Amino acid sequence: MDNLAFEMHEDAKQNAVSAGKMNATSRMEMKRQWSLMRIFLVCLLACTITTAVGVLILSLVYVNHSQPRSEVHLGLEALQTATIPVVQKAVDPKFQFLNHLPKSKVFEFPGGAIQWARYRNNVKDYVSIEEEAFGSSLNRQRSQMTLGTLRIKSNGLRAPHWHFNANEHGYLAQGTAWIGVVDDGGVVTTYNVTAGQVIFFPKNTVHWIKNVGNEDCFFLLFFSTHDELQTLDVDDVFFSTPEDIASRSLKPEGGINFIRTFRKQKEDQGVNLPPNLAELVVNATYVQSADSQVWRYFYDLKGSKEYQFPGGVIQLAQYWKNRSELSNNEKIFSEFLNQHQNALSLSTLRIYNNGLRQPHFHFNANEMGYVISGCAQVGIINTQGTTEFNIHIGDVVFFPTGTQHYIKSTCDEDLLLILAFSTEDQLQTLDMDDYLQATADHILAQLFFKKQSEFKKIPKFKEDQAINLP
Ligand SMILES: *[C@@H]1O[C@H](CO)[C@@H](O)[C@H](O)[C@H]1NC(C)=O
Ligand SMILES: *[C@@H]1O[C@H](CO)[C@@H](O)[C@H](O)[C@H]1NC(C)=O
Ligand SMILES: *[C@@H]1O[C@H](CO)[C@@H](O)[C@H](O)[C@H]1NC(C)=O
Repeated sequence: MDNLAFEMHEDAKQNAVSAGKMNATSRMEMKRQWSLMRIFLVCLLACTITTAVGVLILSLVYVNHSQPRSEVHLGLEALQTATIPVVQKAVDPKFQFLNHLPKSKVFEFPGGAIQWARYRNNVKDYVSIEEEAFGSSLNRQRSQMTLGTLRIKSNGLRAPHWHFNANEHGYLAQGTAWIGVVDDGGVVTTYNVTAGQVIFFPKNTVHWIKNVGNEDCFFLLFFSTHDELQTLDVDDVFFSTPEDIASRSLKPEGGINFIRTFRKQKEDQGVNLPPNLAELVVNATYVQSADSQVWRYFYDLKGSKEYQFPGGVIQLAQYWKNRSELSNNEKIFSEFLNQHQNALSLSTLRIYNNGLRQPHFHFNANEMGYVISGCAQVGIINTQGTTEFNIHIGDVVFFPTGTQHYIKSTCDEDLLLILAFSTEDQLQTLDMDDYLQATADHILAQLFFKKQSEFKKIPKFKEDQAINLP
């Protein structure tokens, strides 16, 4: 219906164009004797011109955006703002910083499902221009950020796999899982992880995730790449390896004939759950490796130090320059993380109702966040000005390095955000009150055309006001 209106709007322009041509042609037509034939020809000409102009307009849209799929959306935008030329307004600028993940495509597997907020090489892989705006913003800002959600059914398994081009950091929001990580020496580290804890899979380590609880596992996964993630699953690699090569490498009893008994499933087994699992597996054990191994790939974020503010709480899984407050196990994680280029820091940010994470920015990291509960108003100030929008459960936000941003919790329920920062170093942050307090009053007076003494009215607080609550 909306598109129909859009076309009518265009038709009005075309009629004006064709009216001029009609006058010229109709003079020629006057010589003809059959008036009925004349009307027919005029109509035919009008049709041809209308079609030609229509095609021309469409091709202009294609050329200007080189994204054929956006044509429908552009039509809608043009209707809403009737006077603005079609090609100027493609998508709300807020979608550079916001992704409504629940609206994205669900990749279903036998044992669970995956959704993505990420950059795609092929624009056709985006389901909307909003998703495309977010993905291309991640890539343009060289964000080192990709987010996926992973749901695994009870007893389901995220197949053993590795990523060529990214470190992976996961936050378990719900459930219990048994994790395996195989490092470059072939050493395997296994451990259980429960809700509120964090996992770390360095680039190219082979890893698996098995749901060992009764409820679904729900993971938020952050990958340190703004290119398309490159992944190989162990079953896919196995079936792509020539049988004789596999046989010579594994030297199984029965040789190549044994290798030939393996059957590739029709469906992608990325997250797998065979219907006859109970027949296949009779005696599963879920051992835990030594702490010195486990804490390299694991962090108890929920159990870590709570940084309390008047309006909320921050917890951090990151590298600390000063490790005097860390437990021995936490020191293992902190140091191991820091040894990896392009690793990420993770954090939870809880803001009570009406609490405000005051305007601040990060010197050394892009930031990506996922709303686990609650809702909020978010503002981003960059060199183009301010962008404000609301966020709800399942939304993904992106704050590029240096952009000043604030988050105000607006629901009764606490806002809980899980955040990832693109640095393996300690996060560097500056809050608005801190940089204004640090600036000499006479400098502020000169800047704002305001008496120096007026700036005494801005108080200094003993308690850090990073998250305040008036
Ligand atoms: C199950 O496995 C454990 C450890 O591998 C072994 O000790 C035990 O005997 C096994 N039980 C059965 C019933 O196979
Ligand atoms: C891990 O979880 C499984 C399933 O709940 C349990 O059987 C196992 O004992 C746990 N292992 C450790 C080391 O806690
Ligand atoms: C490290 O942190 C502790 C506790 O916060 C503090 O007492 C100590 O002075 C710090 N050390 C350095 C070198 O900053």
